[in-house]
Amino acid sequence: KKQGDKIKVGFSQAMTTDDWRKQMTSSMKIEASLRPEVDLKISDANNNVARQIEDIEKFIANKVDVIIVSPIQSKPLTAVVEKSIKAGIPVLVVDRKIDGENYTAYLGADNIEIGRIAARYIISHSKASGKIVEITGANGSSPAYERSLGFDQIIKGNKRFTVVSIIHGNWEKESVSAPLKSILLQNPDIEYIFAHNDRMALSAWETAKTVGLENKIKFLGVDGLNSVNGGIELVKSGVLDGTILYPTGGNEALKLALKMYNKEPISKNNILNTIVIDHNNAEIIENQMDKVDQQQAVIESQQGAIKVQEREYASQNNLVRLLSFF
Ligand code: FRU
Repeated sequence: KKQGDKIKVGFSQAMTTDDWRKQMTSSMKIEASLRPEVDLKISDANNNVARQIEDIEKFIANKVDVIIVSPIQSKPLTAVVEKSIKAGIPVLVVDRKIDGENYTAYLGADNIEIGRIAARYIISHSKASGKIVEITGANGSSPAYERSLGFDQIIKGNKRFTVVSIIHGNWEKESVSAPLKSILLQNPDIEYIFAHNDRMALSAWETAKTVGLENKIKFLGVDGLNSVNGGIELVKSGVLDGTILYPTGGNEALKLALKMYNKEPISKNNILNTIVIDHNNAEIIENQMDKVDQQQAVIESQQGAIKVQEREYASQNNLVRLLSFF
């Protein structure tokens, strides 16, 4: 690298339609803005696998220094990640995984553990039928597979509980209501609904409301965002019984990518912490997250002020140069 050349980091984001992804991207941008040596390029695949493969191909062709990717699906993204590794560009996989081990490092919460935590929560809070409906994330994406796996491991060991039905959702609200409605009409004694994220859990609650069951059934989600209609708000308002925090890791991802670039030793699997958020701690966690958000806002406005000063400095410099010419 020539002196003054920036470190090129390419981030292939799966999509940016939901608040979880928006927060991931914005926390990565903030981290990058604190490091003038970094040139962060973000591409948004808009939930289109072919497009995500192209996005990564472009990063490889443009010879970026490091690639960060949150793969929409595991299998179809595996080959292009391997191609990048072969081309000598290290790859940090975040949140969703590819198949196999051919990547430089992974960053994200343990999704098998998230499934287990959900199951244990239900087992220890159940007072009624023990009948459960599970609503999964999109087929082929690793958190959906892993959350189901962990959930099933714990539930199947306890005879009092049955998963009456599994709805194969797609991470988004619209995949829930039609199938859930007919299940609820046939099983009005469902006690718990575990949805693989809070958006689908909210949709499940709304669907239950249309058949008058929203107060009988208890709802668990995943993500725990501190935002409008986010998990924390839904817990506080009593829509959800609980949610399991799934941190986006946007800023950590950028830090790790730079360590990879600098060839510092890092572990292959970097696991982010998780926690159950329910009525006992929702308020406390909300306050903590508010503080972090406020600090981020301060950093952002300071960065903005610095940019303005830089621009003024540059234009004054030009003026000085121009004047000295005469
Ligand atoms: C956001 C999201 C989250 C979920 C994660 C899994 O796009 O759907 O709600 O926890 O992806 O990868």
